[in-house]
Amino acid sequence: MANILILYSTTDGHTLEICQQLRAINEQAQNQVSLVELKEIEKIDPGSFDKIVIGASIRYGKHSPRVIEFIEKNLRILEAKPNAFFSVNVVARKPEKSTPETNPYLKKFLRKIAWHPKNLAVFAGKIDYPSYGFLDRLMIRFIMWMTHGPTHRDAVVDFTDWKKVDDFGRLIVKM
Ligand SMILES: Cc1cc2nc3c(=O)[nH]c(=O)nc-3n(C[C@H](O)[C@H](O)[C@H](O)COP(=O)(O)O)c2cc1C
Repeated sequence: MANILILYSTTDGHTLEICQQLRAINEQAQNQVSLVELKEIEKIDPGSFDKIVIGASIRYGKHSPRVIEFIEKNLRILEAKPNAFFSVNVVARKPEKSTPETNPYLKKFLRKIAWHPKNLAVFAGKIDYPSYGFLDRLMIRFIMWMTHGPTHRDAVVDFTDWKKVDDFGRLIVKM
């Protein structure tokens, strides 16, 4: 049985949903999983886990600065354990931008950090216009219009390939 830490950064909760699915798969495989938001990192000791997984969503082109902060501070701990990183963004809904090798946000992010995650994934996120404030809704609808995505003001679309999430969950079991 492994003791797994899944750390996440989310704004609207979709990355958390992905993490919950990863946790379910790892718990079914008899592992113990702690799901912790990066905001709460000071409450735990990352060094006490057997494996570490980090997941973060993109907002206006960036992952939360907390993600980089954590990685810089805990580089040695991360490198010493089986580890994985995944990014959630809507650009990844396009097949040609849906892998760690082709997703522009993940590629840029990896260039910025000293950590070389041993396992990587990119998941397409969710659009939920009714839940956004006026400006965010306007901006995201505009970006979607530019990139030929859904623009109806009431649109709620989950682009996540949940089978891909399950596969990543099983990879975490094995890593
Ligand atoms: C205000 C806002 C800004 C966003 N900016 C981007 C972006 O720059 N690029 C992108 O691919 N997705 C962008 N997204 C899409 C999010 O990455 C997607 O909705 C994801 O599912 C959010 O995950 P979370 O709920 O865990 O934060 C944005 C979403 C919102 C609401």
